[in-house]
Amino acid sequence: MPTCVMCDLVTTADTDGYDGLRLAPVPLVPEVRLHLADDAVVLRARLEALAGRDLPEPLWADAWIGGRAIARYVLDHPEVVAGRTVLDVASGSGLVAIAAAIAGARSVTANDIDPYALAATGLNAQVNGVHIETVPGDVLAGDGGGAEVVLAGDVFYRPDLAARMRQFLQRVVARGADVLVGDPGRDYLPRHWLEVVTAYQVSTPGAPQDAQLTEVRVLRPVR
Ligand SMILES: C[S@@+](CC[C@H](N)C(=O)[O-])C[C@H]1O[C@@H](n2cnc3c(N)ncnc32)[C@H](O)[C@@H]1O
Repeated sequence: MPTCVMCDLVTTADTDGYDGLRLAPVPLVPEVRLHLADDAVVLRARLEALAGRDLPEPLWADAWIGGRAIARYVLDHPEVVAGRTVLDVASGSGLVAIAAAIAGARSVTANDIDPYALAATGLNAQVNGVHIETVPGDVLAGDGGGAEVVLAGDVFYRPDLAARMRQFLQRVVARGADVLVGDPGRDYLPRHWLEVVTAYQVSTPGAPQDAQLTEVRVLRPVR
């Protein structure tokens, strides 16, 4: 795995310096800029050519709509994270972690199973002027360590992951920490376990598969 995937991409940029990623403000969260893919399929092919092996879909190169909702929420309600230790689980681009750091969290950790996501998070944190700790691997068998707030953006998109994520978040809640979930109504969202905190209308869905989405919610476990 390249330690700096973007650096490696730049070495294969075309004559105009284009490397498949663009640094852009995030719809709904314009305070944050991220390296996003214009075309995730092309980006994946490019990364696989560099790595010489198959790679997972670069989910980190999109600002997922659920993550955007939590990021918007913590920036508008900084008291949720200010002065507290925060874990952004399944962090992808690091958008939610970055928003928590901007909102004044004492420390922010981003976790993802995709090492490329953590590389992207590091670079995205840098361009937004914040510090994010990154933790690799799968932490879903635990309870979120000492994090006082656990944020989970768009994590209920696959049944296996959704089941494990819910059990993880239940353990987080059981030890007294706060949980916020951002989700546009995906199939595997455990709706009866969650209550709506707020909703946002979206005009720029992001990933192609989200083209029909018009609303996204921030939710928390029912108290
Ligand atoms: C749809 S993306 C959401 C990313 C980000 N939270 C956002 O809202 O933009 C889902 C992310 O979950 C990560 N993921 C999948 N399974 C995971 C696991 N068991 N532990 C941690 N991350 C995981 C993927 O690598 C991907 O980055």
